[in-house]
Amino acid sequence: MNAVEIIRKKRDGEVLDKEELNFLVRGLIDGSVPDYQVSAFLMATFLRGMAHGETVHFTEVMLRSGEVLDLSEMESSIVDKHSTGGVGDKVSIVLAPLLAAAGVVVPMISGRGLGHTGGTLDKLESIPGFRTDLSIFDFRNALWDTGVAMMGQTEEIAPADRRLYALRDVTATVESIPLIASSIMSKKLSEGLDGLVLDVKVGTGAFMKTMEEAEVLARMMVEVGKSFGVKTVAVLTDMNDPIGKAVGNALEIRECINFLKGNAGDNLTDIVLTLGAWMLYIAEELVRFSEDKKTVDPGASINEGKLAEKRIKLEGLINSGKALEKFVELLESQGGNPEIIANPGLLPVAGNILPVTAVEDGYITGIDAEKIGWAATLLGAGRLRAEDPIDHAAGITINRERGSEVKREDPVAVIHYNDDGNLEEALRLVENAFNIGTEPPGLREIIRKIIQ
Ligand code: URA
Repeated sequence: MNAVEIIRKKRDGEVLDKEELNFLVRGLIDGSVPDYQVSAFLMATFLRGMAHGETVHFTEVMLRSGEVLDLSEMESSIVDKHSTGGVGDKVSIVLAPLLAAAGVVVPMISGRGLGHTGGTLDKLESIPGFRTDLSIFDFRNALWDTGVAMMGQTEEIAPADRRLYALRDVTATVESIPLIASSIMSKKLSEGLDGLVLDVKVGTGAFMKTMEEAEVLARMMVEVGKSFGVKTVAVLTDMNDPIGKAVGNALEIRECINFLKGNAGDNLTDIVLTLGAWMLYIAEELVRFSEDKKTVDPGASINEGKLAEKRIKLEGLINSGKALEKFVELLESQGGNPEIIANPGLLPVAGNILPVTAVEDGYITGIDAEKIGWAATLLGAGRLRAEDPIDHAAGITINRERGSEVKREDPVAVIHYNDDGNLEEALRLVENAFNIGTEPPGLREIIRKIIQ
């Protein structure tokens, strides 16, 4: 077996078997298959796709490339969430402590920014001192102590995804259903979960631009989850406009702090509470404890009334400050400076700001999330090359939301930057992201569909 032959087969649209996929993933880990061959394989897969069974095999060999956490000694439900990638998507950062405050154990392994979308790890690392490179030993201890821990893929856990993820980010091979499904599910299945809620983004700012594509991705991940005994629910959510008002790492952490202090009220709230209610439902209604055994019922019908109760319970945990307290515990357990709660000025702040104004009179009919995402990446909030450093302070804040009436020259957003190398291009993108029409837009449904 050799890598050139495997790449050739994929290039010509053939289906690879498990041994061939294993050969490639092993070679990626031990260095016998170099990055240029892996990149060629990724591009061939991007162009040719994978058969359903091939994707399942690929997920499995990626999962087996590292350790699988055994958390069976914990007498709690273990449930996590993952997003397929969005703009201003800071949902995980508030959801993980919120669910832990509700008594659910959340062992979250996340990724960095990918393409024009932001990454939870990059956002967390904008918090002074916060460590995301935990050993399995530290990760477990953090889970025992606080019920929540957030880390990245490491050499111990999900190492294949760690390498593939970084290569995909800079080889234009992100938007592929089998590559996204295997990346997400290999990470998540290594966490020893009872349940998983997936936020499958759809729209301009998502990798899946249409409902059809998003549904194919969602169904594939739900099936993979089920086949590994994990109750998996996919919530398809709108990603045409950015989530919340901030895009960029430290800017988004500020928004998360505000959210946990109870100052929310936009599309972020709806997404957090919907995903959170499903997580809590799985944890409290579908995981059963008996003697020394824990079981999950993957096919149980859902009681909508109870789902609504879970949402109310989560709102209570935000309003009482319990979710914020849990976030402080998370910061303390992973070395982050908890003073940022009282003094968000301790987070990185950009040296310069540039207001962006409306280019004409009218109503904002939409804010193109993809343009905002690329603008943030160009300013340094994401990477254009694997070795690029992140500027944690850079990004965009949005002042006027979809539906607002504006006059030409009204300020609609602010660019935060240190490096002005790509400033002109970023400015054009942000200006053009604001679609302005003569009539107010209709209501946009954030929660589009549930698949389980
Ligand atoms: N999130 C991941 O972990 N992987 C992807 O490919 C996309 C989003």
